Amino acid sequence: MKLLHVDASPKSANSGSRALSRFFVDQLRAGLPALSVDYLDLAQEILPPITGLFASATYTPADQRTAEMREALAVSDALCARLLAADALLLAMPMHNWTMPAAFKTFVDTIVRSGLTYIATDDGRFVGTLGGKKVLFLTTRGVDLRPGSPFAAMDALTPALRAAFGFIGVAAPIFVDAQPMQFANEVERAAAVRRAKEDLAALAETWGDIEQQPALSKAG
Ligand SMILES: Cc1cc2nc3c(=O)[nH]c(=O)nc-3n(C[C@H](O)[C@H](O)[C@H](O)COP(=O)(O)O)c2cc1C
Repeated sequence: MKLLHVDASPKSANSGSRALSRFFVDQLRAGLPALSVDYLDLAQEILPPITGLFASATYTPADQRTAEMREALAVSDALCARLLAADALLLAMPMHNWTMPAAFKTFVDTIVRSGLTYIATDDGRFVGTLGGKKVLFLTTRGVDLRPGSPFAAMDALTPALRAAFGFIGVAAPIFVDAQPMQFANEVERAAAVRRAKEDLAALAETWGDIEQQPALSKAG
């Protein structure tokens, strides 16, 4: 299995989402020693902001793009290739102001590309090309936004991720959300991390099992 592992927290050593994403990769590797990981740290590899040139280039047919347009799309082309080459995606991030952190939003704007991660069909439909990949969103939140919490209605992160990745073909992503973290006492925070780790360990086993199943025989 080839995993694209993306970390989007601006924090380094003391980041909760980074610690949990590392934990998941370790769990996955324990069951899949041949796991290959392509790592992208959005705090180190700062993506360029979307420019006017990018916006016009991305909607210009590939064979009509100028050299300048091709250059404006080069980072996006390379990132889309990394995404398409992966069997599974681990996308880890903190919640920032109820939605995704800016670095991850730029990542999304960079990888939603006509002709690459989605196809506009002649009959007016949009077909995503990432179907069939396993996708895990791992998020950390300062407060508790689970159902029943006074903050539950403020979760603009989950629907935004579902919409953006649904558009490029990710129909059934998995979410593991560690919450409450920053604005909780030590006991609550430890419980949130424990719940997330339990979910991640169980998911790593499932992904490992799926990967190791022999291909179904077409005979009979
Ligand atoms: C700029 C900023 C905005 C934040 N906004 C929210 C928010 O809207 N809701 C929330 O629950 N926590 C919010 N937090 C807290 C983080 O989501 C929380 O501390 C998380 O555990 C950080 O994960 P990390 O350590 O991987 O960066 C915010 C933190 C920062 C730095």
